[in-house]
Amino acid sequence: MAGAGTGENSAYPSFSSRIAFIIVTAGSAVGLGNVWGFPYVAGQNGGGGFVLIYLLALALVAAPAFMAELMLGRMGKASPPTALGRLQAKVGSKLHWPLVGWTGLVGTILVLSFYAVIAGQAMDYMLEAAGGGFAGWSDADVQALDANFKSSMPMMALWSAIFMGLTALIVSFDINTGLEQAGKVMMPLLLLILLGMVIYSGNMGDFGKAVDFLFGFHEMEFTPRLFLEAMGQAFFTLGVGVGGIMTYGSYMGRDVNLPRATFWIVAMDVFVALAAGLAIFPLVFSSGVDAAAGPGLVFLTLPLIFADIPGGAVVAFAFFLLLTFAAVTSSISLLSPTVARLEEAGWSRRRGATVMAALVVGISLLTSYSFAGGKDVFPLAALGLGGMTFFDLIREGVSNFILPLSGLAYALMVGWALSREDVRQALPMADGPLFRAWHMVIRYVAPICITALFVGAVAG
Ligand code: PFF
Repeated sequence: MAGAGTGENSAYPSFSSRIAFIIVTAGSAVGLGNVWGFPYVAGQNGGGGFVLIYLLALALVAAPAFMAELMLGRMGKASPPTALGRLQAKVGSKLHWPLVGWTGLVGTILVLSFYAVIAGQAMDYMLEAAGGGFAGWSDADVQALDANFKSSMPMMALWSAIFMGLTALIVSFDINTGLEQAGKVMMPLLLLILLGMVIYSGNMGDFGKAVDFLFGFHEMEFTPRLFLEAMGQAFFTLGVGVGGIMTYGSYMGRDVNLPRATFWIVAMDVFVALAAGLAIFPLVFSSGVDAAAGPGLVFLTLPLIFADIPGGAVVAFAFFLLLTFAAVTSSISLLSPTVARLEEAGWSRRRGATVMAALVVGISLLTSYSFAGGKDVFPLAALGLGGMTFFDLIREGVSNFILPLSGLAYALMVGWALSREDVRQALPMADGPLFRAWHMVIRYVAPICITALFVGAVAG
């Protein structure tokens, strides 16, 4: 029953229990950013030092901002622009808070536009596995499969459309039937398979080298850009800053202890990212693939595991199915804010989800193009952004700019615009030293860190 266990305004939807909220929101956080993104970004940035800064950025900036976003959602109980408009009115601010919500909605579409292509590749690999692929394949076969996929725009567009169709289908249902059931089925399976992969990879590959790469300290340069990348990855992996989390926060009952829930969601997210690193890097080092290979890393290394094991095709199928699940539990949270906003305009969920999914598929062509014919097309080269394709610009623009800037806005709203009393009331179960520490971080540490990183990146 919708709203059971929360005892709140029954007109506005709500997750059916605290645990359902945690699973679904962890599903939003755990996604391609963990399994596909973290290993390749860590690989490109030299491992250990980057991982340390990433974890610091998570603890000091992204996680506190994540909690602030959930809180704003629960206070506003509407789509992000509407919720922020209400809160602006409540505090009597002259700044246009809904603008942050609208920017977030644009961000969700941009994230989905490349999410769909990458998830599409996972689905394509799943089909390959279903047909008995991967077993006994050589490195060259695996590389050819990746190259084939990335050279065909129609294929990428088709898979993006299938992925977005699935996302739209789930979002079309009411949240208890769609979002909640998807999370409850897909998340536990994902964790199980991932653990199995780490164990296998640890036995088969160079586990010691992987641990040293991810957690050891190596000579490396700590450039402002590296800090910005680490912060961007921290924001992306939690999904803070585009309003997906705010929308889920709006469905969260007042019986959820927010600091505790945040802790568990962040812990699960970090666990999955590190586990993905420990599943992938042992094979990277034992197979001679370049750790800095970039976005193709997960599609070039994992299939090598499957090539060698008995029943490899079955394991491959399970893995890519679950990578797809991880993507779906995140993409539904990315589609939810715009659908919630369209519902406010009188649209049905089905119509909103379908139209937005179609728009995303259209924009996803920019990413497909960047992998195929547009590999060497750098649209903003004249502005000093040479070497960056449409995909690079979209991914980095969202992760490194839209997300942290929105995070800054949330921190200022919660830390400065809302009174301490408002905040205390919004967090009924939080008090004592932890609350005070978080409030200090949101007021001072997070805004200062984000601003300093931006200034550093621009000046550097
Ligand atoms: N956190 C997701 C990931 O790591 O893949 C991406 C994401 C989900 C971003 C939801 C933003 C969001 F609202």
